[in-house]
Amino acid sequence: MENSKPNTGKPALNNNPTPLAIKDEVRQMFDNIAPRYDFLNHFLSLGIDKIWRRKVLKIMKRHPHQQILDVASGTGDMAILASKLKPDAIFGVDISKEMLNEQQKKLRAKNLENLIKLKVADGEDLPFEPETFDIITTVFGVRNFENLEQGLSEMHRVLKKGGITIILEFSKPAKTPIKQLYQFYFTKILPFVGSKISNNSRAYTYLPESVGHFPSGKAFEEYLKNAGFGRTTSLPLTFGIASIYTGQK
Ligand SMILES: C[S@@+](CC[C@H](N)C(=O)[O-])C[C@H]1O[C@@H](n2cnc3c(N)ncnc32)[C@H](O)[C@@H]1O
Repeated sequence: MENSKPNTGKPALNNNPTPLAIKDEVRQMFDNIAPRYDFLNHFLSLGIDKIWRRKVLKIMKRHPHQQILDVASGTGDMAILASKLKPDAIFGVDISKEMLNEQQKKLRAKNLENLIKLKVADGEDLPFEPETFDIITTVFGVRNFENLEQGLSEMHRVLKKGGITIILEFSKPAKTPIKQLYQFYFTKILPFVGSKISNNSRAYTYLPESVGHFPSGKAFEEYLKNAGFGRTTSLPLTFGIASIYTGQK
């Protein structure tokens, strides 16, 4: 039944919104912007994304962290930061080969190739055995999932008992005037500057659309609970522009 599917309101990227087509379009979009992704990311977020990732690292430190999985790992800023914890292994998965190629270059330069292993794989169909990881991180990734429930339940499946999933994602600030400023920046400035620099007009209109429809705060915690996670938390960052969600198994 159509209504029983969670409505994350994913915007169609083209006029043919069948599940496979949307996933292919997301992959293609990230493949295209991969060489410019890091610059754009830090430039358009004014560097705040680095502070947010460090907050994720702080939470990771407080939990067992021998085996780490970074889902939607992209160019690897979270996986690389996690290497500071000196875990036994880090795996990074992503559907975009080009994003992972960019990460691989960084791993080579930082001599992290033996610690961080990359796989082209779908976060909604993880190629790992159940109960493999102590920590799973996903930074600005879950918003892109075709089926959020499926992605979260895959994370739950491959997490060890007692393990923690930590998700950093854009959210919607609720208070005036930040709400209006955010709206203006996200729907006017970011698509304009993003499309000029990336040569990909769709990438930066997709971002505000996908954030606008996405559950945040307690609503996101409900998705975590439905996927089997307990002790869920949500922590708004920088006036609620982004949030860190955690859930334990
Ligand atoms: C905004 S980037 C974030 C990358 C990285 N985590 C970071 O913090 O910079 C989103 C990433 O999610 C990946 N992605 C989208 N859908 C995915 C899926 N179903 N499974 C795995 N990765 C996916 C994209 O290819 C892209 O690399």
